[in-house]
Amino acid sequence: MTTRKNYKSVELPKDDPRTKLIVSLIKKEGAKADSLIQVLHTAQNIYGYLPIPVIQFITRELRLPPSRVFGVVTFYHFFSLKQKGGHNCLVCTGTACYVKGAQHILEEIEKNFALKPGEVTADNSLGLQTARCIGACGLAPAVVIDENIVARVKPENIKNLIEAKMGEGK
Ligand code: FES
Repeated sequence: MTTRKNYKSVELPKDDPRTKLIVSLIKKEGAKADSLIQVLHTAQNIYGYLPIPVIQFITRELRLPPSRVFGVVTFYHFFSLKQKGGHNCLVCTGTACYVKGAQHILEEIEKNFALKPGEVTADNSLGLQTARCIGACGLAPAVVIDENIVARVKPENIKNLIEAKMGEGK
């Protein structure tokens, strides 16, 4: 049982809200084989695809043979090993975020980027995902743009927030 060591060995950033969500889900579901699909499903939702280090992390945390995990990932069409958008926006639609306007954030994204959850823009520059709770309800409505969590997002600001992220490094 070397979960801590393995966590470090795959170098998932500890302060990335997506890492925290996966860690808390594994804690909740229990480190067992039965949790695999649920955990992969959540990871796919929050990243938009399944990055290899994330798969390795999940494999080790659930103490499963890599062949089994990759077997599941490649068997189900829902899972993808390829990034679907240059950038990824995840809108939390859990209860706390929903009552504080997550739906309006999604509507603004659809209006400005012609994107619905699960889709990527035609130029593959942006993907949109939703999750039922990212474990940051005190920050509702919360959005994760790439690796950054953005708290109390106002629908009218989401376009600028996304464009600012997409413009970084240009
Ligand atoms: S409902 Fe959005 S973070 Fe919990």
